[in-house]
Amino acid sequence: MGNVREWWHGLIVYQVYPMSFQDSNGDGIGDIRGVINRLDYIQNLGVNMIWLNPIFKSPKVDNGYDISDFLEIDPIFGTMAEVEELILEAHKRGIKVIFDFVMNHTSEQHPWFQEALKGKDNPYRDYYIWADGKNGGQDLPNNWESFFTGTVWEKEPSGDQYYFHLFAKEMPDLNWANPEVRRAMVDIAFFWLDKGVDGFRLDAFIHLQKEEGFPDVEGLDEGEIGLAENYYANLPKINEYMKFFTSTLRERYPDTFIVGEAASATVELARSYTDPVLGGCDTVITFRYFTMDEKSKDPRLSSNMQKTKLLYGAFKKNLQEWQKVMADVGGPTLYWNNHDMARVVSRIGDDSKHRDNSAKMLATLMYLQKGIPFILNGEELGMKNLYLNDIKDFKSPEAQTFYKNALALGYSEESVLYNLRESSKDASRGAMQWDQSAFAGFSTVPPWSGVNVEADYNVAAEEANPGSILHFYRKVLDLKKTDLFVEGDYHLWGTHDDFFVYERVMDKQVGLVICNVTDQPKEFVLHPLEHHGYRQILLQNEGNWLEGETLHLAPYGVAVFQTVYNS
Ligand code: GLC
Repeated sequence: MGNVREWWHGLIVYQVYPMSFQDSNGDGIGDIRGVINRLDYIQNLGVNMIWLNPIFKSPKVDNGYDISDFLEIDPIFGTMAEVEELILEAHKRGIKVIFDFVMNHTSEQHPWFQEALKGKDNPYRDYYIWADGKNGGQDLPNNWESFFTGTVWEKEPSGDQYYFHLFAKEMPDLNWANPEVRRAMVDIAFFWLDKGVDGFRLDAFIHLQKEEGFPDVEGLDEGEIGLAENYYANLPKINEYMKFFTSTLRERYPDTFIVGEAASATVELARSYTDPVLGGCDTVITFRYFTMDEKSKDPRLSSNMQKTKLLYGAFKKNLQEWQKVMADVGGPTLYWNNHDMARVVSRIGDDSKHRDNSAKMLATLMYLQKGIPFILNGEELGMKNLYLNDIKDFKSPEAQTFYKNALALGYSEESVLYNLRESSKDASRGAMQWDQSAFAGFSTVPPWSGVNVEADYNVAAEEANPGSILHFYRKVLDLKKTDLFVEGDYHLWGTHDDFFVYERVMDKQVGLVICNVTDQPKEFVLHPLEHHGYRQILLQNEGNWLEGETLHLAPYGVAVFQTVYNS
């Protein structure tokens, strides 16, 4: 395919977490009408695609990722007519819409599963994954651990077998080895494509195949369980399943955009998932960019809920590797945030002393690289982690498990809550901050999620302030839309880990991004560049200045230079 520019290389995606975006009917939960009402805001931000987290019928054990009817809109979000209107209105504004597509599991309340529970002869039995217990059924079928902790196996209520669930026990995994399941999922996708959606974010697709025979993970003690990535992640048939899915959809809708959530995929796997002949995803989201400092963590507890630092040296190497391998497919996805991770300005930036500068620097650092930006709603305001006071207020099953386990190990309630506030997914799911009113303009009643109300960090205040993070995001995205920052080659400079410096180069044009990733002022000598005339600053945050060849960068300072090679 080489360096062909595909239509989707210029996408800029805005992730709308519908429950937390805008409530229009005063029930404290965001809804579709709320998103429609805010489309002008989204358009003005300069994005050209929205990704909506699941809006389908669901008992909400996992905030909508447990779907009981793939073809119905959950009444808390509104109606099918409103969804159709949303798609239409978004398209009128030049914004494409993609839906979350949960293909690995259903809710236990899905009629397929309810049928499957009726017994081994039921035609839907084989839609799910079943195993007999060991030792005449007394013990679990094996020692695999679920992502939401505990075993992956749950005994059926009447009957002797166990069903498999990689996530919560209320979320049984579909059996993709069954061609009927593969077909059924394609039909669901067509239903939405017929309604005008432009593509899908494929939830957890790397887990569709499970190792046959369910072999035990080795090296565990009797009765112990452990994560079994080798047996339920990135197995060889994934590409076959994906290829069937993506190519069947594209026979009818050639421009269907597919972004796969490939949490643990290495860059080589990502390359194969995005190979048009192999997997057929346009791009994938990996979790592998963010190498965190694990030294201070307690290995007995879930790693991603313990506050720690980003290791910039490793992070730079990771991004460089992804940039290199994904260069000819439009670059990797570029993101800091999603609904599963704490807010970037708190997690990686500095949400107290250097909030504005760190948010602006991080946006520039990430999004001017080659690839497709994915921005979580509220990130463009510098929204920080949601402050939750009590463990009861944390909604995610993982936060609850972490709390229990950490207390059992003797941690104080205060320290556990600190880690959850800083690192849990709940921290990113707070209500969108539209203004300074009681519930931040999100609703007229207390939001389901909790909300931070802040005088300076909300849409109304930031619209009125030309120096705000919101205005800065618009400028970054304006730059991002230029050919140089879509198509230009990427070169990371070898610098000290205090800096993150890279160039984008196209023909004779060069864009140079210089970031100070520390909370101290830093000097960066432009000396070797002088003959290229790096003098025009396209964009910068506050407190930087040039003195001869020395660029003085404020804490978390960033400057983007442009030049044209003469020779
Ligand atoms: C994905 C989603 C996450 C969800 C899980 C199970 O990782 O991003 O929120 O819990 O899949 O569907």
